[in-house]
Parts: sequence; C-alpha cells; structure tokens
Amino acid sequence: ENTFEIAVIGGDGIGPEVVAEARKVLDAAVAGESARLNYTEYSLGAAHWLSTGETLTEETLNALREHDAILFGAVGADPLDTRVPSGIIERELLLGLRFNLDHCVNLRPTRSFPGVTSPLRGVDDEHPIDFVVVREGTEGPYAGNGGLLRRGTTAEIATEVSVNTAYGVRRVVEDAFTRAQARDKHLTLVHKNNVLTYSGDLWTRTTAAVAESFPDVRWDYMHVDAATIHMVNNPQRFDVIVTDNLFGDILTDLAPAITGGIGLASSGSINTSGTAPSMFEPVHGSAPDIAGKQIADPTAAVLSAALMLDHLGMSEAAERIEAAVLSQLTEWATEGAAGLSTSQRGDAFVARLSG
Ligand code: NAD
Ligand code: IPM
Ligand code: MN
Repeated sequence: ENTFEIAVIGGDGIGPEVVAEARKVLDAAVAGESARLNYTEYSLGAAHWLSTGETLTEETLNALREHDAILFGAVGADPLDTRVPSGIIERELLLGLRFNLDHCVNLRPTRSFPGVTSPLRGVDDEHPIDFVVVREGTEGPYAGNGGLLRRGTTAEIATEVSVNTAYGVRRVVEDAFTRAQARDKHLTLVHKNNVLTYSGDLWTRTTAAVAESFPDVRWDYMHVDAATIHMVNNPQRFDVIVTDNLFGDILTDLAPAITGGIGLASSGSINTSGTAPSMFEPVHGSAPDIAGKQIADPTAAVLSAALMLDHLGMSEAAERIEAAVLSQLTEWATEGAAGLSTSQRGDAFVARLSG
C-alpha cells in the first residue's frame, strides 16, 4: 500500500471550514484505492501570526518539503482588521510558499457546471465554457522587486518591477502547450505587449519559439484588456490561456464569475520539476464576511482536492470526485442547496461518492 503524506493548511476564515469538507471527500474517494492519505496539520495564517508573530519559518518550510502535496484552504485577515498589516500574510506566507516551493505553474481550470447558471447570455449546456488558465506563479510583478522612497513626503516614489526570466517564462509556456496538446489544441497567450514591451516581447518570442515543438497546437495572442471582453462575450473561444502572474490573478477571478461563482473555482500551484510538493487550493480567499457561519461553498476546495489526487497519479479517484460534484450540483440546481451548511454539502458529495 502506498501512503501519501499530505500537509494540510486550513488557514484563516472559511479556509478550515472548506478544507474539512475536502478531507472528507478525499477519504471517501481513496477508500477503494490501494493508496492511503496521511494528513499532518499545520497552523499557519493571520490568526497564527497574531498569536505567534510567525508567518512561515524555515523550520516549517523544511517540514512542508517532506510532504507529497499540500492541501491549502485560504489565508488572510479581514481587510478591516487593522492589527494585520496588508500583505504580510499574503507575501510572507502564501507567496512565500509558492516561491520557495517553486510553484511556477498556477493552474486554474474554469468550466460550466451542469445546472449552474452562467450570468452570461449564450452560455448553456449546449455551449459550455471549458478552459484552463496557466498562470505564471513565481515571477512578474509579484516578484517583490520594488521599493518605496521618501515615504510620507510629497516626493514619494513607489516602484514594483515586473521580473520575467527566459527560464521562468519558457517553462510555463511549455507546460501550457503540453496541456493544450492534450485538450483542444488551442493556446492563447494573454499579455499587454503593446505597452509592456520588454516583458511582452520576451513572452511573445518565447511562445513563438516553443510553438515550433507543438505543430498541432494552434496559438494566438490577445491583449489582456481585450481578453476581459472576450471572456465575457465569447468565453467558449478559449482552451488554454497562458499568462503572467498578475494578469492571471485577475483573469482567474473573472473566469469563475462567468461560470457561476468563486465558490466553485479550484487551483493547483504546481512545481513542475518535482523538487518540492505542489499545493492545491481554492482560488477564493478567507472570506471574512461569511467566516464561521458554515455557509461557505466547499466545492472549490473539493475540486482542488481532486486536482491533487490527479497530480499524485490517482486520476480515477479524481474523476470520481468530479463526477460526484457534477451530479450533486445538477441536483441542487433543481432542488436548491440553499439552507445547506458547508458540512452538509460535503456530506452530500461523500454520499454521491459512496452511493
Ligand atoms: P475572498 O475570495 O475571500 O472573498 C470575495 C467574496 O467572495 C466575498 O464576498 C466572499 O464571501 C465570497 N466567497 C469567497 N469564497 C467563497 C465560498 N467558498 N463560498 C461562498 N462565497 C465565497 O476575497 P477578499 O475578500 O478579497 O479577501 C479576503 C482575505 O483573503 C484577504 O485577506 C485576502 O488577502 C485573502 N485572500 C487569500 C487567498 C488565498 O489564501 N489563496 C486568495 C484571495 C484572497
Ligand atoms: C490568489 C490570491 C493571491 C494572489 C493573494 C492572496 C496573494 O489572490 O490566489 O489568487 O494574488 O495570487
Ligand atoms: Mn486572486
């Protein structure tokens, strides 16, 4: 029997609530497999920082490295909580994990769910949305290369320099082409190369160069502002989108908004070289406005757990979770899930899996 060591970081707000449901579903999904999941919980996040002053220590980071994968909820304080300076948890903990564990591919699939109504015209079961955003995860404007000079004066200068390396861009573009080849063979590079001419040029040339190794994949280029139009007017045109860290962040909040909600959006922060564990996390945050009420939608966390199983090589178990989620969402579309708690929704997925 194969045992996978899973680090669990529930985090803040609704994070622990949705991760608890993901674990229930994982256990039900692997029950029939020859593999076992062994969980180790790590207390990290804004609440942990408030009580210990620690975001992510070297020791914790090293302990996390020993795991096969990380199941992550969400971290971050209520923006109104003035005790927690904006960015400290996000930068030192969440980005600290993504950067230190070299999560170069931030994989964010978006699809129509049967029975879940898209707010867009022209999107129905006959014309579903199904694309994946391959968001660069360790560079770009997120790299932390910047500074603030003459703070508090009228001559203040804030810089935030986008870092794009040939190595970093190339590996993400290659990953995106590989995914496109396994899907509908269409890749769209989204950038802003009409204004960000230095990095835009590197991304565009790299994509053209990598494309030569994937002659069966059609590729095109789109400016990010135009991409927001197309994502609303004709999202069915996308198959695989490859893009920079910040553009990808914004597009992957828009993407679930067009399919039926942030509560359904899953993601994987993937180390493509296998040098450290990948991390699976809902796209949403800690949602302080609904935390502690047991009303958060656990679906995004559950689907992220399915991505984790797929990553660990248990693709059949992953598919069973997806199928269970799809059929349960379809039922709720007609019967309504309103009034069901987070935990009752998790139980319903488990019942589908076991039934
Ligand atoms: P958010 O995603 O937490 O919430 C945005 C809106 O979506 C809120 O109205 C919230 O109630 C709703 N929502 C989110 N997840 C939901 C779910 N599962 N079910 C139902 N509704 C859901 O974004 P925010 O308010 O901008 O950020 C709150 C905190 O989370 C901040 O500290 C932010 O930095 C952090 N954050 C963390 C992550 C992460 O850990 N990966 C991601 C985004 C934001
Ligand atoms: C996300 C979040 C994070 C990001 C923040 C909280 C650092 O918005 O996972 O999309 O910008 O990547
Ligand atoms: Mn985001």
